[in-house]
This record gives sequence, structure tokens and C-alpha cells, in this order.
Amino acid sequence: MFGSWCLVVVWVQVSEMFRSVNIQVRVFIGWLMGGASHAKGHIAKYRRPREVASIIMQRRAVRKSNRMQRPTDNLRADHVLTTRGIRVLAAIADCVEVGDEFPAADCASVLRFLREWVLAVHMRKEDEILGPAVAMRADEEAAAIVGELMRLREEIAELAHALVLFWEPINDLTDAERAGFAETVQALVARLERRQLLEENDLFPACDANVPVDDQLDWLEQFAQLEAARSSREFWATKVDQLATNWLN
Ligand SMILES: [Fe+2]
Repeated sequence: MFGSWCLVVVWVQVSEMFRSVNIQVRVFIGWLMGGASHAKGHIAKYRRPREVASIIMQRRAVRKSNRMQRPTDNLRADHVLTTRGIRVLAAIADCVEVGDEFPAADCASVLRFLREWVLAVHMRKEDEILGPAVAMRADEEAAAIVGELMRLREEIAELAHALVLFWEPINDLTDAERAGFAETVQALVARLERRQLLEENDLFPACDANVPVDDQLDWLEQFAQLEAARSSREFWATKVDQLATNWLN
């Protein structure tokens, strides 16, 4: 009888111990989930993990949306149009080199595109707004690339200006002039492509990684003002489409 009584006492003690541990574990889990404070009628000091995760996801969603409007994305979109214009100019040079009639009107249009939009709008976005910020915020290597980009821009401007001389040749071009035209275009195209490669592989990533978003807040507005003052990407996209119809397969 006494043995049975002892067993009952031990069982009760053990049960009480497990119940206590169980309560402590549940309180701990409740605290983790933010429920303990609510259960006690207090305002939760920390948000529930799921709420925090939700907020993080929302912020990520906002950031992703902003990424679609980054200044570097605007410049990459410019490059799509620039590349199309470069291909037209290269195709014109190929025809001139092999002796076809000089396409003065189309040559004038594509050179106007290069001078009035690529040089006067797109490259000003890069060299007057983005480039200086990268040079200041990023490392020395990035600053050196900014310098090389500006040197390339000067050479591109000089070569484009030289090609203007061929807009409306009075007489048919001599073989030497055809060769000179083609060589000048090739030099121009090479520099345009080199510049875009440096920008997309080095300058833009350096900007996205080093220039604070706050510093870039008004860049898109400044880009829009540059386009409004000269000409827009949309305007030239229509023109380049017409040229591409004539010159690209
Ligand atoms: Fe560019």
C-alpha cells in the first residue's frame, strides 16, 4: 500500500515537472512568435517574424520596381537605339566602299542622329551626370574609366564632324575618298562600340554599386530635361527605324 502511494506521489511530481516544462516551452515559442506579449495584454515589442518577412518582401518588391527605373537602365535603353544607328552607319560605309552611289540623305540623317542625340544628349547624360558621380564615389579604376570614356567621346565627336564633309559630295567620290569614308566610319564605330562596352561592363555596375540612390534621385529628371532641350529617344527611334528599313536586313 505504501509502495503504491509512493508511486502515485512520484507520478504526480513527474507530471507536474513535465507540465511546467511544457508551459515554459510554449511561453518561449509564444514569445518568439510575438504571442506572449499579446497574451499578457502588452504591446508587442518586436514584430512577429512573419510580419517582418512580409515587410522585407514588400521592400524588395519596391526596390525591384525602382530598379526598373534606375538611371543606368535609361542609359542601357539609349544604347539599344545607338547600336541600331551604328549598324546603319556601318552598312552605309560598306556600300560606299564597294562603289555604290553615295547615299547622301541617309548618311546625313544617321550623322545627325549621332551628333544631335548620341553626342548631345545621351553622352551628356553619362559624362555630365553619371560619370562625375562614379569618379567621386567609386574606386580609382572606375575613375580612370570615366577619363577614358571622355577621351573616346572627344574622338567620336571629331570623327563624326569629319564625316559631315561627305554629306553632299558635289561629284562622285574617288576611290581614295570612298576608302577614306569607310575607314573613318570604321574608326568611329570602333570607338562607339568600345565606349558602350566600357559603360555597360564597368561604368554602370560601378554606379549601381557605389553611388547612393539618394544621389541619383533627380537624374532621370535631368535626363528628361536634356532630351527636352534637344531631342528625345522616341523621336530618334522613329527616324532610325526608317533608316534601318533601308539598310538593315
Ligand atoms: Fe553610352
